[in-house]
Amino acid sequence: MEIDLTGKTALVTGSTQGIGLAIAEGLARSGARVAVNGRRAERVDAAVAELRSAGGDVVGVTADVATEDGVDGLLAQLPAVDILVNNLGVFEAVEPRAITDAQWRAFFEVNVLSAVRLIRSYLPGMIERDWGRAIQIASDSAVVIPAEMIHYGVSKTALLAVTRGFAKDAAGTGVTVNSVIAGPTHTGGVEEFVYQLVDRSLPWEQAQREFMRAHRPQSLIQRLIEPAEIANMVVYLSSPLASATTGGALRVDGGYVDSILP
Ligand SMILES: NC(=O)c1ccc[n+]([C@@H]2O[C@H](COP(=O)([O-])OP(=O)(O)OC[C@H]3O[C@@H](n4cnc5c(N)ncnc54)[C@H](OP(=O)(O)O)[C@@H]3O)[C@@H](O)[C@H]2O)c1
Repeated sequence: MEIDLTGKTALVTGSTQGIGLAIAEGLARSGARVAVNGRRAERVDAAVAELRSAGGDVVGVTADVATEDGVDGLLAQLPAVDILVNNLGVFEAVEPRAITDAQWRAFFEVNVLSAVRLIRSYLPGMIERDWGRAIQIASDSAVVIPAEMIHYGVSKTALLAVTRGFAKDAAGTGVTVNSVIAGPTHTGGVEEFVYQLVDRSLPWEQAQREFMRAHRPQSLIQRLIEPAEIANMVVYLSSPLASATTGGALRVDGGYVDSILP
């Protein structure tokens, strides 16, 4: 399979590190012009420099995409994209009955509404040009709701619904809208999350194994997923090759979700 995204412009939200950075790297390697995003200018500049040094056609957009003002500023710099990857998402472990109203609202704002705003902003141009891709990074937690972060799981379930709804909105056009169900992945953010749940004094390899055994026993690969493995699916979905896949949730979860359906 040859994936060539030359001539396409992509935005990956929350992409100065982790899964977002790997997706930006994958899209750039396939020839797309990629906009990297984060709230801190120095982190954005560092990510841009890293991807450019590998030969990528990359620009940086510093903006808080969880706010209306932030999205307005981003749209002023990047009025149209062919590929939108709503990667931004936050997570934290909180006892179910201890999640406050403010935390519920914050998770909806950051994990759901930020994606809705950007889809709403970019979809009309994609439909007009009769080509586009909107991809949301969901999570196994969208389907297997973890007791230690119900608010996160609910926000990711909502993203699956948002995806299905906007895919219907784009029906009959060359625009596809999908989500990717990412499983437990080896990122800096996750290392901190793992250490919220297992003994902080354990070295990383042991902590990872203990986390998978105690909190993610359903994983069929019994290891964390590497960010590049998520990026591979996103690059494929972003490509013209994936033209008949829309309205779906594609799994890169290490077999974590116990289902025979994709
Ligand atoms: N890691 C996992 O195991 C895992 C598993 C399943 C799904 N996921 C999903 O995958 C996605 C990426 O996760 P990750 O672990 O790779 O993330 P991460 O390492 O925590 O990275 C977060 C990125 O988002 C940026 N960011 C945070 N708030 C922002 C905002 N309001 N506006 C713009 N940028 C913002 C951060 O930069 P600044 O701080 O400078 O803004 C950083 O670049 C999320 O949707 C997550 O839910 C992750």
